[in-house]
Amino acid sequence: MRSTDHLTVSELAARSGFAPSALRFYEREGLIQASRTSGNQRRYERGVLRRLAFIRAARNVGLSLEEVAAALAALPDSRTPTKADWTRLSRAWRARLDAQIAALEKLRDGLDSCIGCGCLSLKRCAMSNPADVARTDGPGARYLPAPLR
Ligand code: FES
Repeated sequence: MRSTDHLTVSELAARSGFAPSALRFYEREGLIQASRTSGNQRRYERGVLRRLAFIRAARNVGLSLEEVAAALAALPDSRTPTKADWTRLSRAWRARLDAQIAALEKLRDGLDSCIGCGCLSLKRCAMSNPADVARTDGPGARYLPAPLR
């Protein structure tokens, strides 16, 4: 009987919510690892589910794949990361997440005013962004925090 500590691609996909193609992509990118059976089939340690949950959460709050990869690279890949490993990671990420939270709050609180995107569609734009002066700073919504532009 096969150990439940190791999951097949379809079991990992079903439990994590990621498509098998996404799992293979993350494996190619070195974000997750798989062992192989004698029949050359992938088997994933159950601990990979936490890495995948971390990838999804980080991506959902707008962190880049490079940032996620750099963070996961700090975790040991020869064993399942412990609580201490994850604590170290979260401490390293605190400032980045605080900045993302601040940016999201600014977005939440600023959506009803001019964001400097060039649309000039709000009354407020005439005062905040006359003749789209914001464009001189570069593309995108110049009044939104950098992570959200
Ligand atoms: S909201 Fe788009 S330019 Fe003001």
